[in-house]
Amino acid sequence: MSATVVVGGQYGDEGKGKILSYLALHDKPDVIARGGGGPNAGHSVEHEGKKYKIRLCPSGLVNKTAKLVIGAGVFVDPDVFIKEVEEFGLKGRCFIDRRCTLLEPKYKDEDAASEIGSKIGTTKTGIGPTAAARAKRIAKFVEEEERLKPYLCDSVEIIHSAKNALVEGSQGFMLSNLYGTYPYCTAKDVSASAICSEVGLGPLDVKSVIMVIKAYTTRVGHGPFPGEVSVAEAEKLGMQEYGTVTGRPRRTNPGLIWDELKTAARVNSADCIALTKLDVKYPACAGAKEYAKLPADAKKFVEEIEKKLGVKVGLIGTGPAAGDIIDRRAGQ
Ligand code: GTP
Ligand code: IMP
Ligand code: MG
Repeated sequence: MSATVVVGGQYGDEGKGKILSYLALHDKPDVIARGGGGPNAGHSVEHEGKKYKIRLCPSGLVNKTAKLVIGAGVFVDPDVFIKEVEEFGLKGRCFIDRRCTLLEPKYKDEDAASEIGSKIGTTKTGIGPTAAARAKRIAKFVEEEERLKPYLCDSVEIIHSAKNALVEGSQGFMLSNLYGTYPYCTAKDVSASAICSEVGLGPLDVKSVIMVIKAYTTRVGHGPFPGEVSVAEAEKLGMQEYGTVTGRPRRTNPGLIWDELKTAARVNSADCIALTKLDVKYPACAGAKEYAKLPADAKKFVEEIEKKLGVKVGLIGTGPAAGDIIDRRAGQ
């Protein structure tokens, strides 16, 4: 078994969904496992003219033959899970680890009504209260929800029987409860080690850690964010975005925050950077599939990232679809 782990290197919404969909199709994993958070995540995937908005099931679902599992560490909201299984036709192929924590409606209500939730600007999906309940040993397991029973599995058995596993993280390093901008962060660590633990993998099971970063920086929710520009400025640069889960406008820094990225690369032990939205920063890159065809300023930017972080930029996003990518992992 060998596993590739994909994590976010900034404040979430780096474009993990798109990178994961490419890896799921190109690297042909036989098992794709989701770790991290729960329904607070929002991943966007575009493939063969279809758009998917995914919160709980693995974003690699566009690979129709891989087995999909939700790891033990993920908080499962049954309504969100069932909706995705039906909407994306995943019955019989997407399973939940039997050790997963059940995200109950009361936790969502508590998140939405809490003072600290408003102060942080959470997604109001119940993540903090569920994590607290789990820590207090009062949370329920997914088996207590009748509708989830047909989907339960032992994901440790499944992932360790895989030949080639793709592991999906969620959120981003600066939202980690340990390394991020506490208390303006999510309820768990989201670095590669934590994601591995959540899907039942140990440190020696991993062959590659791909850290996804966007060519500029965005953040949703409150908390420190150096280099932030106004919505009008971000609009002018074509960088203004809106949240997948909450629809909230994202805050923008048109550049990269190097000291944060350096720590993120270290703690995640990233051996590959996936750089997304290079075409948003340099429109002449749109649709490019070869590194040699990129304009000089874009190449200089890629080289600057490699030099400053000491990690190869192995994947480059040049458009929204799964296939709009330059894959230089094996050369170029
Ligand atoms: P994660 O939470 O990290 O998965 O990111 P996200 O999917 O939440 O980001 P968002 O909701 O902002 O969606 C990203 C959008 O940008 C999707 O429509 C993607 O198809 C698109 N996208 C991803 N990578 C690229 C890229 O390299 N270039 C362009 N132009 N679009 C991209
Ligand atoms: P929570 O995870 O819902 O408790 O939210 C805590 C913080 O993390 C808030 O600032 C959220 O906006 C942010 N957050 C949580 N999940 C995501 C995500 O998937 N993308 C971007 N921000 C997120
Ligand atoms: Mg997102």
